This record gives sequence, C-alpha cells and structure tokens, in this order.
Amino acid sequence: MLKLVIFGSTGSIGKSAIEVVSQFPERFKILGLSAKRNLHLLKEQAETFKVPYLFLEDKESAEKLKNALSYKALVFYGNEGLKELAELDEADIVLIGISGLKALIPAYYALKKGKRVALANKECIISAGSFLKKIAEKHGGEIIPVDSEHSALFQILRCDKKAFVKRLIITASGGPFFKWDLKDFDKITPELALKHPTWQMGAKITIDSATLMNKGFEVLEAVELFDFSSRDIEVLIHPQSVVHGLVEMVDGALLAHLSKPDMKIAIAYALSYPERWPLSFSPLNLKELKELTFYEPDFEKFPCLRLAYEVAEKGAPYPLILEAADEVVVEAFLKKRISFLEISYFLEKILNEFTFTFKPSENLEDYLSFYQQVISFSEELIEREKK
Ligand SMILES: NC(=O)c1ccc[n+]([C@@H]2O[C@H](COP(=O)([O-])OP(=O)(O)OC[C@H]3O[C@@H](n4cnc5c(N)ncnc54)[C@H](OP(=O)(O)O)[C@@H]3O)[C@@H](O)[C@H]2O)c1
Repeated sequence: MLKLVIFGSTGSIGKSAIEVVSQFPERFKILGLSAKRNLHLLKEQAETFKVPYLFLEDKESAEKLKNALSYKALVFYGNEGLKELAELDEADIVLIGISGLKALIPAYYALKKGKRVALANKECIISAGSFLKKIAEKHGGEIIPVDSEHSALFQILRCDKKAFVKRLIITASGGPFFKWDLKDFDKITPELALKHPTWQMGAKITIDSATLMNKGFEVLEAVELFDFSSRDIEVLIHPQSVVHGLVEMVDGALLAHLSKPDMKIAIAYALSYPERWPLSFSPLNLKELKELTFYEPDFEKFPCLRLAYEVAEKGAPYPLILEAADEVVVEAFLKKRISFLEISYFLEKILNEFTFTFKPSENLEDYLSFYQQVISFSEELIEREKK
C-alpha cells in the first residue's frame, strides 16, 4: 500500500488526484491533504478518507478544522507546516498540486527526504529547476512530471536513448482566442479568458493558457525536466488536445503520445510509474476523431510565448522573474486593473526594468526571498502605471 500526500487537494489537480486514488483503494492510503483556505472541502475530503495529517495556510483555520473533525488529526499551518507535511516519514509519494511558487517548499523538503515527487506545479521547476534536481540527486528523490505534455514526453523518452532524439514538440490547444483577430483582443475580458475550450483548470493557469504564457512556461519546464535547449523544443497549436507531446528522432521518426484531455491519466501515471494501472474510463477512440490539426503559434498575437523563449536563452534567474511577474500581472487582469493586451506589456516591462544581484544558489530561502522581491517590484510598477 503506497502512502500518499496531496498538496493542493481542493484544486483542480488535487480533486483529480483524489478521483484517481479512489479507483485504487487497495493500492493507496491518503496520509496527508492540504489546501490554502478551502476548509469546507478539505474537511469533506479528510472525513471521507480519515486522513491523519492536514494543512491549511493560517493557524486559526487549522484550529477550526481540527475542532470540526469527527476524528483526531494533526493539522499543520504556515511554511513550517508545509515542510512538516512534505517530510512525513511514512509518505512514499508527494503530489504537488499547489499553484504558485509556494510549492517550492514542499517540493524541496519531499525531495530532500528522498521521496517521489509527482509534480504538477510548474512554477517551482521553472524557477528553481537545477536547484531541485540537485537536491533530488543528492538525497535519492525523484521528480515525475504530471503536466500532461511533460508526462507525455517523459513516457516517450523512456523508449530510446537521448542521443537519438533531435527535438521535443509540445502541443497547445491555442486557448479561447486562437481564431480571434488581434484587432479584437482589446475586447477580451477575464470572463471570456476563463473559458478554456478543452481543459478544466484553476483560474491562473486558464488565463496563462489564453495568453499562451502557459505554453511558454511549459517550454521552460521541459528545458529543466529533460535537459534540452529551448531551441530544440517546439510548440505546435493543436486545438483538439489529443496529441500531448511528440519526440522527433534523428532518423526523422516522430513518436507521439495521444490520450483524452484528462489530467487523471498523467496523475495516475506519475503515481503508478514505472507500472501502469487500469483507469476506469473509456480510452480515446481514434475512429471518433474527425481530424487532428497542427499549426505554428502566432508570436505576434501571443507575445508571452516569445518572452518565454527569450528568458530561456538568458537562463536563470530570468525564468523565475517571468514566473513571479506573471502571478502579479494575471491577478491584476483578473481584478480588471489591466487589460488582456497589457499582460504581455507589463511582463516585458518588468523583465526589462527589474534589477537584481541574485545568483542561482543552494538555499531555499534565497529563492523565496528573490521571488518576493519580484512580486513587490511588479505590484509597485503596475500601481505606478495605473494610478
Ligand atoms: N489544472 C490542471 O489541469 C493543470 C495541468 C497541468 C499543470 N497544472 C499546474 O498544477 C498547479 C495547480 O493547478 P490547479 O489548476 O489545480 O490550481 P487550482 O485549481 O487553483 O488549485 C490550487 C490548489 O493549491 C492550493 N493552494 C494555492 N496556493 C496555496 C498556498 N500558498 N499554500 C497552500 N496551498 C495553496 C489551493 O487551495 P485552496 O483551494 O484553499 O485555495 C488549491 O488546493 C499549478 O502549478 C498548475 O500550473 C495544472
């Protein structure tokens, strides 16, 4: 029986993970669950599985949850709580479905304890990829990607030697504005941007999908996870979201991964790897597919993708700066303080104007405080411009 801790269990990834685990009661025990503020859903999940370790962000909510439970559980809180939950001796797998760079804390401590980290969160690998990989290597931890494109590439890359691989291709649905004219982009509202055509996800990643920033992040994520140059990672728009990743071999062969657009498949793979367990839903039916189409992304309409390639060339810590700036800029868009077109404008401005002395380090706190500096700088910059 594998003992599992799910960070972000009340979010889109977390809920899918619980669905996967529910299909295999004989294989998994849920040891820990965490949410930021959603006490109600966390309590419901905790009661269903009688989960012994829980986490909420603040002390007061943690106390409230503890008192509301019908059984005895330890409820952690704060950054120390994230650490304690990630380090539990009994845990075999730690799934990180928290959004934002906070995920770096549990990812770091779980890897330091030599655990398998099923990593859905892309922010931490983009911002501190080499740091996390070093920790994993030193302490015997492993990172298994959960992001669907990276899970696809991870699975295909197991088939052959890296020396035989020419390049990686990741696909993007194109988001809700793929077919829109650039001249209409000033009409995009948060409500429209939150309607993703193929995937059900949290708000931040859904906006990132609409700007193609998410795909840019995925290029950065692939650079870190698979040690490829961004020049050898191509993005193709594929509106059906059926082919998730392709690997082009030196002999011209293309190996592809196809599945329904459902995160449960990638989550189950990361949990069962190197095995595969039968998921109880109907697989992709090729005969029902009318067409599979692929297009070049339009870098003029979606400049966020260009920014990602540029920061990949510059290297650390630019991906971290882009990621942190994007958190602030997307939040400002969701609150209607800035327009859709201003998302890339502000990101570029922050990348150009933020000055720093940070060097990639061996210290978790350095990453967290550098991230905070970028957040403060970005907030002040938007405040100044929008006064
Ligand atoms: N959704 C997808 O299909 C998908 C696919 C690939 C990769 N990802 C990546 O997976 C991560 C999660 O995405 P999502 O769509 O599942 O997000 P989401 O629906 O917004 O859920 C985020 C989860 O993390 C918790 N959380 C957020 N901030 C936290 C903090 N500071 N401390 C502790 N917990 C915190 C939330 O708790 P509350 O509910 O209490 O707020 C919630 O449980 C992101 O990095 C995303 O890029 C997602």
